[in-house]
Amino acid sequence: VKAAVVRSFSDAPRFDDFPAPTVRNEDELLVDVIAAGLHPRVRSQAAGSHYTSTDKLPLVPGVDGVGRDTDGQLRYFVLTDTTMGSMAERTVIDRRRSVVLSPSSDPIAVAAGMNPAMSSWIALRKRIDFAVGLNVLVLGATGNAGRMAIEVAKLLGAGQIIGAGRDAGRLSELAGLGATSTVSFDGSTSDQIRAATSEVDVVLDYLWGEPAATAMAALITGRADEGRPLTWIQIGSVAGPTAPIPSAALRAARLQIVGSGQGSVSGREIVAELPTLAEHISSGRFHIGVRSMPLADVELAWREAAATRQRIVLTP
Ligand SMILES: NC(=O)c1ccc[n+]([C@@H]2O[C@H](COP(=O)([O-])OP(=O)(O)OC[C@H]3O[C@@H](n4cnc5c(N)ncnc54)[C@H](OP(=O)(O)O)[C@@H]3O)[C@@H](O)[C@H]2O)c1
Repeated sequence: VKAAVVRSFSDAPRFDDFPAPTVRNEDELLVDVIAAGLHPRVRSQAAGSHYTSTDKLPLVPGVDGVGRDTDGQLRYFVLTDTTMGSMAERTVIDRRRSVVLSPSSDPIAVAAGMNPAMSSWIALRKRIDFAVGLNVLVLGATGNAGRMAIEVAKLLGAGQIIGAGRDAGRLSELAGLGATSTVSFDGSTSDQIRAATSEVDVVLDYLWGEPAATAMAALITGRADEGRPLTWIQIGSVAGPTAPIPSAALRAARLQIVGSGQGSVSGREIVAELPTLAEHISSGRFHIGVRSMPLADVELAWREAAATRQRIVLTP
């Protein structure tokens, strides 16, 4: 089959031939891939740097997608660690890790939106007991996952929804998605950050690194009520894989740090959340910035992915 093929972790995938996938048991299904998202997770997979990476090569990247099975049904699927990913004309999926989509759903939107939306959906529904009215701060709210986190928090009934980031233009778009306020971590003083976040209950952190540590120090020293629990959910690390967390943060407030991702949430729990989320996306509940490109242009897509704001979706 034609596919995006990674032969070296130091080069972008190339459009090339790859051995045709075969079904090995009755849970597996062959699908014609319609759309596969080029998520940050897929870029790290192709670079051999994701925490779940094995170092097997060659590989076809792609961790999820939308395809049509041999019965003609449209399915959103998630793949487990495999060298036969979704960026191919055909791939093999496990039917238990897929959901049948309504024929009217938009495969491009679903392929673009499920991965970024899932990050906050799973975090709020599976890693904490989220209650309606809790105040949420999204740290790194200008990326695809961060923007959708604003909409997910709104959908789940959050009280205050505060978007924090560094790009003023993108921050200004968040009110339209449901943010009750925004705060710039570049343009604001510590006092302003403290004032804006003094009643936060839950942080959805896409950044980690230095910015997360700085934000944590501000939040801890700015609590309106020190006894009010603060749960910090670590989700992404676009600003750095490690963060210099101040020890006092853990003593001076009722701070809990947890993470949400593959491993801290089981595959079964993740799969159980897919149908509802797929329905929200299919029904147009979220704003999804997407740019679709032919699979044959995968090399160009890899170059563009670093620069473009919209989620790239490859279509075989
Ligand atoms: N754990 C999970 O379940 C899960 C699921 C999906 C995604 N993720 C992770 O979530 C993260 C974000 O994913 P995404 O899909 O939203 O990626 P994305 O669309 O590429 O957005 C990344 C955003 O990060 C911001 N950023 C980058 N470096 C920054 C820095 N030093 N300080 C502040 N902001 C910075 C950029 O904002 P500006 O340039 O606008 O400032 C950019 O918009 C990734 O690490 C991804 O792997 C985790």
